[in-house]
Amino acid sequence: MTLSMKDKILKRFLLASGEPISGQHLAEELGISRTAVWKHLQSLQEEGYAFDTIKKKGYLLLSKPDRVDAASVASMLSTKRFGQTIHYMEECATTQTISHELARNGALDGTVVIAETQTAGKGRMSRPWESTKGKGIWMTVIIKPDVLPHQAPQFTLVAAVAIVNAMKSLYSSFTPVIKWPNDILINGRKCTGILTEMIAEMDRVQALLIGIGINVNQQQEDFPESLHSIATSLSIEEGSLLNRAQLVGTILNYLEKYSDLYIAEGFSPIKILWEEASGTIGKQIKATTLTEVIQGKAIGITESGVLEIQLENGEIRSVYSADIELDE
Ligand code: BTN
Repeated sequence: MTLSMKDKILKRFLLASGEPISGQHLAEELGISRTAVWKHLQSLQEEGYAFDTIKKKGYLLLSKPDRVDAASVASMLSTKRFGQTIHYMEECATTQTISHELARNGALDGTVVIAETQTAGKGRMSRPWESTKGKGIWMTVIIKPDVLPHQAPQFTLVAAVAIVNAMKSLYSSFTPVIKWPNDILINGRKCTGILTEMIAEMDRVQALLIGIGINVNQQQEDFPESLHSIATSLSIEEGSLLNRAQLVGTILNYLEKYSDLYIAEGFSPIKILWEEASGTIGKQIKATTLTEVIQGKAIGITESGVLEIQLENGEIRSVYSADIELDE
């Protein structure tokens, strides 16, 4: 993990679970002077972290600002690669463009770009993506798997499965479901979108940029009126404010696990996990493609993530791209 000295100190406090840490001890452990430790603590206080000094015992972290910075996420990680390098910023245009540049300049597999807000967040089909400051998770994970370009879309499904399982492991008041191809919904309203972009040669993927946008701590009034019936946040559904860094870390843990599973065993285990987490399969749906409207029962996805719909006359149709509505 590439952490600055200040982040290393912060990580120690985050992992200390409410116990004080002595300045002398920290200085020895990190090979710096006690004055240097004290200066880093001053700088953390300026960023909103609060410390108490406990006689003969050292410093105690009392409270921290709600941020998804490298140190806060690092204390949640159990990965070898994913999230081991995190580029954190208060604001950027879009984490996708920054990731493109990093990927072209040798970023390692699993590098993450994460921002508190984006001024030009990108959704699928060139739609804008609303990235309210400090309330959501706006991040791109750069992955560099040894796969062919036509396999790239399968990684969007890997990501969807990782996100749903991370949410299920942390929260108990709602059940997230995947809406084909890659939205995550709770009680029929969207909480998460995934945008996968690719840097590739004809026969080799150089990098995949998995852009993940999650509405976490917005309340109803944070959404524009026009989105009230179609968008929700995890906090609205869970009924409390949630720890974003914990969710980022948990998603990265699952993402590494499922990417490794995909590389080791192919798409089949992912397809099973995806169908389990899907709110589309087995339902009567209406799929509006560019050229037609197809009504029928969604029966599954193929090896390449294509949705299969069975019409009333038994015929099976493959859908590559469409807007899906569940038939009531
Ligand atoms: C969708 O249309 O559903 C996909 C939305 C993807 C949004 C995320 S937020 C982080 C990353 N940066 C962006 O500009 N977009 C993706």
